[in-house]
Amino acid sequence: MSESVQFQDKVVIVTGAGGGLGRAHALLFAAHGAKVLVNDLGGSTQGEGANASAADRVVAEIRAAGGIAEANHDSVTEGDKIVQNALDAFGRIDVVVNNAGILRDKTFHKMDDSDWDLVYRVHVEGAYKVTRAAWPHMREQGYGRVIFTASTSGIYGNFGQSNYGMAKLGLYGLTRTLALEGRKNNILVNAIAPTGGTRMTEGLIPPQVFERLKPELVSPLVVYLGSEACEETSGLFEVGGGWIGKTRWERSLGVGFDPEAGFSPDDVAAHWAQICDFEGAVHPKDNIEALKEMMANLQKFSL
Ligand SMILES: NC(=O)c1ccc[n+]([C@@H]2O[C@H](COP(=O)([O-])OP(=O)(O)OC[C@H]3O[C@@H](n4cnc5c(N)ncnc54)[C@H](O)[C@@H]3O)[C@@H](O)[C@H]2O)c1
Repeated sequence: MSESVQFQDKVVIVTGAGGGLGRAHALLFAAHGAKVLVNDLGGSTQGEGANASAADRVVAEIRAAGGIAEANHDSVTEGDKIVQNALDAFGRIDVVVNNAGILRDKTFHKMDDSDWDLVYRVHVEGAYKVTRAAWPHMREQGYGRVIFTASTSGIYGNFGQSNYGMAKLGLYGLTRTLALEGRKNNILVNAIAPTGGTRMTEGLIPPQVFERLKPELVSPLVVYLGSEACEETSGLFEVGGGWIGKTRWERSLGVGFDPEAGFSPDDVAAHWAQICDFEGAVHPKDNIEALKEMMANLQKFSL
């Protein structure tokens, strides 16, 4: 194969790949030579029920196109079974795409514990379980790629999605630390915040736009992030409709008060505009960089 992004002898798990974005990712990985474990519980968007046919259909599609795939029907909350299935079928595991997801949209004052818990369990615990089970194999072989599926609902907030936003931004927190811990074993970890016309967004996006937000337009980024050609780690990418952009934290230069003399809530109020002024803002890459201005303030007022 002449393309630089290719997956000869590589094994990829895509969770929730029985439809929507996951199906598109699985098809594109397989078309680039990967052996794909197509996982899907096959329940409803609200996380009810189960149906093996979703994953089976995608496996049939991949095989019909000449690719290699096996189906898995476990819930992501049983991630060890999914990883074991990939090992049994293909003997190794190189890439995990944590894509499975559900919605339980409600305004916060109407939220039940069950809506909160189920969204947490599928998105956060599910991604944790699959990744945790794959991690030792990636460490041992000195190679791995992990992709988490976040959301603009987590990055920016979205009315009626407190549970989903919590879970989705939580996955980016997980991405940042796993990227640090994985680097020395060549395990690269990134997150995407996709937008695609799927059953999850049907009725929420105007039909003409929905048609054009094809799930396939998200997958080239995911397949690139899952490849050996990718050197990126710790990134967060917004993607959809043929467009890809990178998102990062930005922080104002802030205001330094005298830590020895102390300062009052009135001092905070008086400096509010300056605290929130993004002129000359910084973009800390890690915890050390993030503490730089704070440490400089201690230094400035040192006894
Ligand atoms: N479509 C969008 O615009 C959009 C936006 C932001 C984030 N996302 C995220 O992208 C991912 C894919 O969503 P989609 O839009 O393709 O929706 P989708 O409903 O078509 O796909 C989600 C898949 O996950 C599967 N799934 C659900 N719970 C599971 C479990 N416990 N174990 C295994 N599989 C399970 C479902 O059966 C389904 O096939 C989700 O994580 C979603 O939150 C989508």
